[in-house]
Order: sequence, then C-alpha cells, then structure tokens
Amino acid sequence: MKQSYRYIIGALSLLAAMMMVPNGMAEAATARDNYRTYCAQCHGVNGSGGGVNTESMSVQPRDHTDAKGMSGLTDAKLKKAIAEGGLAVSKSVLMPPWRATFNDKELDALVGYLRELCKCSE
Ligand code: HEC
Repeated sequence: MKQSYRYIIGALSLLAAMMMVPNGMAEAATARDNYRTYCAQCHGVNGSGGGVNTESMSVQPRDHTDAKGMSGLTDAKLKKAIAEGGLAVSKSVLMPPWRATFNDKELDALVGYLRELCKCSE
C-alpha cells in the first residue's frame, strides 16, 4: 500500500515538474536541435566552426562561440543573415538563406541560441 502511494506521488510530482517547464525552454531545445541539424555541418556541433563541410570551403563559417566577434553583430543583423543568407549582409554566399526552412519564431529562437553559444549580447 505504502509503495503504491509513493508511486502515485512520484508520478504526480513528475507531472507537476513537466508543467512548470517554461515554454522558452522547449523553444531553446528546438533551436539547439535545429542548429545541430541545419548549421553544424558548417558551423560545427558546438558552434566554433570546423564542421564537416569546411575543409572544401574558401570562406570559413563564423565562429559562433567568439564573444568578441559576435557581440559586434546586432540581433537584427544575425536574424537577417540567417533568414536571407550571407549575401544579404555583404558576406559570403556560402552562408545559405534559411527563410524557407524556419518561421519568424524559429529564426528568433536561433538568434537566441547563438547568444547562448557566444555568451554575449548585441
Ligand atoms: C553551407 C555552410 C553553412 C551552413 C549550413 C550554415 N552556415 Fe552560417 N555561415 C557560413 C559561412 C561560410 C559564413 C561566413 C560568411 C562570411 O564571413 O563571409 C556564415 C556566417 C554566418 C553568420 C554570421 C553572419 C555575419 O554577419 O557575420 C550567422 C549568424 C550564421 N552563419 C548563422 C547560421 C545558422 C543559424 C545556420 C543554420 C540555420 C547556418 N549559419 C548554416 C556557412 C554556413
């Protein structure tokens, strides 16, 4: 009897914990997944460059963990670079445009994830 109480209380507190996870956290996890799926082959799994594509690339992807370089870029510029590609921000065409892949919210979440990677703000 005591055992089953414990089980029920355990299940209830797990449920409560799940309900308390703020929405933003789920979005951040999605942004990380998106980054690993779509960006890591160039920018590297950890964002510091050196993805599998980079050996043959004439322009190296930006190091997203470089706080100094990244804090010089505004959130708006990062978003534009992601949405419209390198060319739109006078950078290399090797940075592809992603607006067909991500909606506005997902783009914002990716910018947020880049800020996590660089541990910096604009
Ligand atoms: C095919 C390789 C490739 C992929 C995939 C890629 N990038 Fe890039 N990215 C680049 C390159 C190369 C640059 C550097 C361009 C330059 O410095 O001229 C760059 C630059 C950037 C920049 C900096 C722009 C600036 O103003 O300096 C951001 C932000 C960025 N990428 C975000 C992303 C995100 C987010 C993804 C995934 C959704 C992604 N990239 C996927 C190659 C790639």
